[in-house]
Amino acid sequence: MAATHLEAGDPVGWFEPLYASARRDPAAIPWGAPGPHPYLTGWLEAPVATPPGRRAVVVGCGLGDDALAVARHGFEVTAIDVAPSAVRWAGRRHRRSGIAWRTLDVLDPAARAPLEGAFDLVVEVLTVPYLPGVVRDAAMHAIGALVAPGGVLVVVTLVAAGPDRAGDGPPWPQVPSELAAYRSAGLVRLALDHPPPEPMAAAMPVRLTFQRPRS
Ligand SMILES: C[S@@+](CC[C@H](N)C(=O)[O-])C[C@H]1O[C@@H](n2cnc3c(N)ncnc32)[C@H](O)[C@@H]1O
Repeated sequence: MAATHLEAGDPVGWFEPLYASARRDPAAIPWGAPGPHPYLTGWLEAPVATPPGRRAVVVGCGLGDDALAVARHGFEVTAIDVAPSAVRWAGRRHRRSGIAWRTLDVLDPAARAPLEGAFDLVVEVLTVPYLPGVVRDAAMHAIGALVAPGGVLVVVTLVAAGPDRAGDGPPWPQVPSELAAYRSAGLVRLALDHPPPEPMAAAMPVRLTFQRPRS
């Protein structure tokens, strides 16, 4: 499904048919493991930096479990995803969460413009490594642009163990050098956390924390 859309020059078009064809069965979604990502819950319990306010956005929210975890920590959450079926599904799963669910392509400058600089906490879990190289810089810039002055960005991604992107994706683990795109979006890196590398692993999960300076 991904290959067909990528060949047609549509890097995000495969997400919607994937969610739609799952017919509300999380087991049919490759990343549909129930519950928030443990790197995110760990961060929420022991934040690397304190967001200056309570406005949060979760980008690429999928089935919404990360957004729910953020809401349960007292944030007013907007959760966005390019796939309308994911947004509807997440809204039904977490009906009384108070989360604002929105279908939005973060790569679309016009759709994104009203959200730029609007969030004290921005969360991105495993979205960028599912995008092909050609739009990754733009995606990281777009996500970074959502962070308010003084605000904090938490990213959970996959990073390749070596200098080259590992294997056939999606996902395509990120190479460490491409993560600099967040800094060129005006953010300062505060922390990079990961488990001890496994000797033969081609990629490992990494959590990064960035902050936008106040001025
Ligand atoms: C690999 S999934 C991860 C979903 C969720 N974060 C999780 O960890 O379960 C990537 C998600 O990002 C969404 N996505 C991809 N490109 C996007 C874009 N340009 N704007 C908004 N959402 C996007 C997809 O629809 C999908 O739900």
